[in-house]
Amino acid sequence: MVDAATTHAIEYTINGERQQATVPARRLLVHHIRDTLGMKGTHIGCDTGSCGACSVIVDGRLVKSCMMLAAQADGTAIETVEGLAPDGALTPLQQAFNEQHGLQCGYCTPGLLMAASFLLRRNPNPSEAEIRRAIRGNICRCTGYVNIVRSIEAAAGPAASERAA
Ligand code: FES
Ligand code: FES
Repeated sequence: MVDAATTHAIEYTINGERQQATVPARRLLVHHIRDTLGMKGTHIGCDTGSCGACSVIVDGRLVKSCMMLAAQADGTAIETVEGLAPDGALTPLQQAFNEQHGLQCGYCTPGLLMAASFLLRRNPNPSEAEIRRAIRGNICRCTGYVNIVRSIEAAAGPAASERAA
């Protein structure tokens, strides 16, 4: 049984920056990212692993950060939506979401951007079916998925290949 008062010293990189922290044993990674680091781009939609709004990439794997303890991030490399465009210039994927109307309220968008980035790094030319499979863990309550899929298709192909190079 985990003692709630137990803390863990952790060290990790987030968007390329080295960080150290002491975290309570039961603190969720998403709360650490948002409330301790102040990186509010990672959203919370459910806290139960259902919506994908909290998706980040940890050691190259797509992770729902409400399903991972901050203590488990020790020694890892974390990427959040803020890390996609560190110099402020939108990536082709972010531009495509803008141009193809892939968002409405935008609440789901950070998670979708992380899921789509994860897909395009592994598969720069996904089919529509592959795109839909890749974002099946991300719920959008506003737009429906047609424009989201279109956005990812628009960012795929040559643009995605260049980024992966
Ligand atoms: S907040 Fe993590 S999956 Fe919904
Ligand atoms: S754009 Fe509003 S939840 Fe997806």
